[in-house]
Amino acid sequence: MTTEENVTTDPEALRARAADALETARRRTTLLTSCVEEPELTAQHSPLMSPLVWDLAHIGNQEEQWLLRAVAGQEAMRPEIDPLYDAFEHPRSERPSLPLLAPHEARGYAAEVRGRALDVLETASFALDGPASLTRAGFAFGMIAQHEQQHDETMLITHQLRSGGAALTAPDPEPLAEPFAGPAEVLVPGGPFTMGTSAEPWALDNERPAHVRDVPSFHLDTTPVTNGAYLEFIADGGYRQERWWHPAGWAAVREHGLHAPLFWRREGGDWVRRRFGVSEPVPPDEPVLHVSWYEADAYARWAGRRLPTEEEWEKAARHDPVTGRSRRYPWGDADPTPERANLGQRHLRPAPAGSCAAGESPLGVRQLIGDVWEWTASDFTPYPGFVAYPYREYSEVFFGPEHKVLRGGSFAVADVVCRGTFRNWDYPVRRQIFSGFRTARDAGPAVGEHA
Ligand code: AVJ
Ligand code: FE
Repeated sequence: MTTEENVTTDPEALRARAADALETARRRTTLLTSCVEEPELTAQHSPLMSPLVWDLAHIGNQEEQWLLRAVAGQEAMRPEIDPLYDAFEHPRSERPSLPLLAPHEARGYAAEVRGRALDVLETASFALDGPASLTRAGFAFGMIAQHEQQHDETMLITHQLRSGGAALTAPDPEPLAEPFAGPAEVLVPGGPFTMGTSAEPWALDNERPAHVRDVPSFHLDTTPVTNGAYLEFIADGGYRQERWWHPAGWAAVREHGLHAPLFWRREGGDWVRRRFGVSEPVPPDEPVLHVSWYEADAYARWAGRRLPTEEEWEKAARHDPVTGRSRRYPWGDADPTPERANLGQRHLRPAPAGSCAAGESPLGVRQLIGDVWEWTASDFTPYPGFVAYPYREYSEVFFGPEHKVLRGGSFAVADVVCRGTFRNWDYPVRRQIFSGFRTARDAGPAVGEHA
């Protein structure tokens, strides 16, 4: 028996997958940057975000640097623009004042890079047995498709922050045929499991290597926490009671007068939210969205619970209690489908809690993948044996206690950048991201067990 995930390693299958992932990403990028008028592409909709036209040219610039220069050895097309699109040279708030490529130039540049990158893709060696290299199993192509999709999520956040009417629309997820009647929580039995991966060909450096962790028994919510449940915390004065809050979270509540998730407001007796340019009643059965780590942590404490650690989350999402193996997803090793997970901006909102029965884990946990990013209790730290690859600025410079880990991906995340091992991170005050959470509690000693 193997302990590794069943992953595709056939070079031609991976090459086709890379071509498809790059095309899917570009289709989304094109939509996100063509559904608003030109002035809206160069405007800054929030100091937290870049102008959309920056993301567009940055996507092209990263692709040029990795696929054309690093993999294919080509000369820089426009070396003078590199510093403009280096995320570490200029903070987001400064980017609108830079001499950025105009929208038509940025589009032309990204398209020209893509044309050349597809030529490189056709002939690159995807061989698995050679020395570690950027193209082994097509890693660089997978990394660049993931990079573009990450910026597609970033751009969707910019769309959510922009004021004005709707620019994007999408069908709603299916309502639940009947209210979810499963148990509120499941017991995840204690014991070792394999965390991280050494097998997934396009896993990023921070997901590696696979290693064993012993995780004591714990209980985990079957679904993400809903708006309805979160409203009870609000109604119970949750935002007015210091005792539920981490000191820094309480300071943020006081400083900014926080009283509900971002984008919510009270109208008469009802809660209304703004979602991609439209106001609508807050749906009680949907996972709560746009909460900070501090809000998630305060809610969990109020509920007599806690946030799961990152290793608890991953064990619940990947461990198969029958074989003892860690799998790619809660449902197994097969790729996501719309029945298994709400991903890819097919819908512009999470599906009701209890959706996606086909995507549940062996223990019956639902919606671990898709819908909302889930805050965990954990700081973003390297796994034992971590090696920065291919550049320190992807993960390594962010390790440390100032970032908390989020898991599972949101409705805004594409398949190629979502799996049971994928790690996202952000500052605990952030709430413009598509973030929610579920809660956990210690299992305590089993009946008949003596401490
Ligand atoms: C992994 C989502 C935190 O957006 O800052 C994009 C992804 N890295 N370009 C980010 C990323 C470089 C990153 N996150
Ligand atoms: Fe980037």
